[in-house]
Amino acid sequence: MNPSRSIPSLYPQAAGIPAEYDIPTPVSQENYLLDGRLEPWRGEMQTITSPIMVDAGAGPAPRIIGTCPVLDETAALAAVDAAVKAWDQGCGAWPTMRVTDRIRCVEEFATIMSEKRDEMVRLMMWEICKSLPDARAEFDRTVEYIHGTVDALKDLDRTSSRFVIEKGIYAQIRRAPLGPVLCMGPFNYPLNETFTTLIPALIMGNPVIVKTPRMGKLLYGPLLEAFRQAFPAGVANVLYGDRRIIAPIMKSGKIGVMAFIGSSRAADALRLMHPHPHRLRCILGLDAKNAAIVMESADMELTVRELLDGTLTFNGQRCTAIKIVFVHESRAAELLDRLGAGIKTLPLGMPWDDGVRITPLPEPGKTAYLTELIADAKAHGAEVVNPGGGQTAMTLFSPAVLSPVSGAMRAYSEEQFGPVIPVVPYTDMATPIDSIMNSSYGQQMSIFGSDPATVAELVDPMVNQVCRVNLNSQCQRGPDTFPFTGRKDSAEGTLSVSDALRGFSIRTLVAAKGTPGNKALISDILRQRRSRFLSTDFLL
Ligand code: G3H
Repeated sequence: MNPSRSIPSLYPQAAGIPAEYDIPTPVSQENYLLDGRLEPWRGEMQTITSPIMVDAGAGPAPRIIGTCPVLDETAALAAVDAAVKAWDQGCGAWPTMRVTDRIRCVEEFATIMSEKRDEMVRLMMWEICKSLPDARAEFDRTVEYIHGTVDALKDLDRTSSRFVIEKGIYAQIRRAPLGPVLCMGPFNYPLNETFTTLIPALIMGNPVIVKTPRMGKLLYGPLLEAFRQAFPAGVANVLYGDRRIIAPIMKSGKIGVMAFIGSSRAADALRLMHPHPHRLRCILGLDAKNAAIVMESADMELTVRELLDGTLTFNGQRCTAIKIVFVHESRAAELLDRLGAGIKTLPLGMPWDDGVRITPLPEPGKTAYLTELIADAKAHGAEVVNPGGGQTAMTLFSPAVLSPVSGAMRAYSEEQFGPVIPVVPYTDMATPIDSIMNSSYGQQMSIFGSDPATVAELVDPMVNQVCRVNLNSQCQRGPDTFPFTGRKDSAEGTLSVSDALRGFSIRTLVAAKGTPGNKALISDILRQRRSRFLSTDFLL
């Protein structure tokens, strides 16, 4: 933040918003995508207000940026019917389509989507306040993910195009789709996190219902026509709404896979709505409270750089963010000083401001919640150690470093999902180890240290607590070819470009004893290309 500017003055004047990033007139999203049609909605509408306060002359005030449907149970069940029809008990055109043809549809979709980059990035900035470079990066990463998925599927298909012969039995083993999928992503990566389940689900032959995220809904508008053009009717259905549409979809019992990124509590409730939970596969990305342990031997310059990125990228609103820092007491003062100095260099502002690092928080009531966390920590003996930390004006919140944090404080165990950095000084390594072992979360952690013996001693117990141990590096999901998962309340199933293809499919085989009659039968089927499953065609 420019020290001469107060936080409220960081909100823009209406006339000062760069024209290319402005949304001067609200976007009216009147359609949703159902069974290959852009269906107009005449019912309840949601008004979307940006977390960016705009000063049109009377001081910063919320700006309405659009409206979109709040669909009801009837619309939700119509989407289930459309997906069920496209599935057609596994005999629909999409689940039985040749892989090359499905790939062609997905590539066509990616091409049309790429033309929408600027429009979607602009909406992302206004809806969730992701900075311009980060919004662009999310878009580009998503397109790259689509292409990566296509390549991974080609690989998978090539491997499956050969027969296995074992103990005299001939088999062709392929991955087959599972049936209608419900995809629900979070607000913080409204495009990427939804697409990392949606694209693999689709390309494996499953019809999909997408429920747009809680925030980050309008940016789906430009994609509806792309979905409509690229996929057969009923294969991709896009709905706007809230729990009122999710419950009937789950209760219908017709969903084969639920892909959900959100809280473990919501995931549990949704799973139980399915009348046959054993028929439901869940791919879940859930809660996390990733810890960093800063050892005596840490390179403090590198550590602070990684911690600032790890805790404050997109205001700490990443499931992979570092959400608690343990530091050896001998290095605590130095760490706190450097973190404070580092935070001073991170500009607060609007998503399009050059070099901005901290932007308004889109969740309603978020700054009040973070303020409560700080008050609770103070009541239990911690302080905000960086000057200006925790100052707030409407949706802007200046990052706060809290120390010394202890187990009695809410900031120790709650997933703050925002720019508050709880720091716990320790003397005995048992403190962070016990905390991680007793935590309900198990996604990732980071170790900062340069002594091979002590680092290695910590790695071994930690790999059985979390699913990624980062050495002298912040926690993160990428590269997207790496497995992304978690233990305990943090995840179910693994996502990566190739793992996701497995998640949305099931290994299925056609097998036969290798008798002369069966060999002749299979040879004929292959030679005459009579089957899509039994085929040795090789994808290039
Ligand atoms: O919010 C969870 C995201 O998947 C994290 O991805 O580590 O690349 O920011 P990231």
